[in-house]
Amino acid sequence: MSRIAYVNGSYVPHNQASVHIEDRGYQFADGVYEVWAVRDGKLLDSAGHFRRLARSLGELRIAAPMNDAALSIVLREVVRQNRVRDGLVYLQVTRGVAPRDHAFPKDIVSSIVITSKPVNAAAAERAAQKGVAVITLADQRWARCDIKSVSLLPNILAKQSAVEANAYEAWMVDGKGRVTEGSSSNAWIVTKDGVLTTRSLSNDILGGITRERVLALAAARQIKVEERSFSVEEAKQAKEAFITSSMNLVTPITKIDTTSIAGGTPGEMACALRKDYLQSAAT
Ligand code: PDD
Repeated sequence: MSRIAYVNGSYVPHNQASVHIEDRGYQFADGVYEVWAVRDGKLLDSAGHFRRLARSLGELRIAAPMNDAALSIVLREVVRQNRVRDGLVYLQVTRGVAPRDHAFPKDIVSSIVITSKPVNAAAAERAAQKGVAVITLADQRWARCDIKSVSLLPNILAKQSAVEANAYEAWMVDGKGRVTEGSSSNAWIVTKDGVLTTRSLSNDILGGITRERVLALAAARQIKVEERSFSVEEAKQAKEAFITSSMNLVTPITKIDTTSIAGGTPGEMACALRKDYLQSAAT
């Protein structure tokens, strides 16, 4: 069965799907994206991703290509046509196609691309059971990390450094030595006295939809939470650490740089929150 992509109004075979060479996403990274996890054929935390998409588009003054109800139908149709049970659906909206000129062109029509693919949920579960390693490096990004822009060069360089260090993720660190977030995930620790800690929302990080859900799950468990930044040193001495994202859900960290975390085994709170997440997020 061939994969199907949705491109500007048509469902097309994935290997023939294409956009114009003067699409501003290609020319300038002038666009935004969203990633939904799919479990049992259902989009997880659907509404949160719609909300963030609208916000990212609004911040960049890119017109929404269709309303949420229509978009919801197309997203589910792409998942269905690709027969994805466990996987992801990826959406990208760019300002559109126009002769190359930095300023916004007049009367431009947004471009939209949606793809979906399976992921090996069992392998992801195994990684979560074992825990993963992260490295730390300088955050080299711009001042609007709250926008889910397709402009991801610093993120991909960070992730590549992680891969080359045999690590799973890279935690980026601000000028004050404090962790901002992962290259494609939010960063969390559980302090020595059991306080669940993650950086507060600002232009320095992406407001993760998984992060939002995990905060609600922690509240339901009456876990003490602090939204504040933490240093790499504090993280290395933490009781637990983990990352959250649509792709990783809640994934425990067992090593930061060369320091073993939680005795090198996944932390209790991370495992409990992962379980809660899987039970609560299907829509
Ligand atoms: N990334 N921070 C960054 C920089 C991210 O790129 C992501 C998600 C997150 C977590 O957001 P959420 O919980 O809403 O997935 C945090 C997606 C998965 C990606 O780039 O593929």
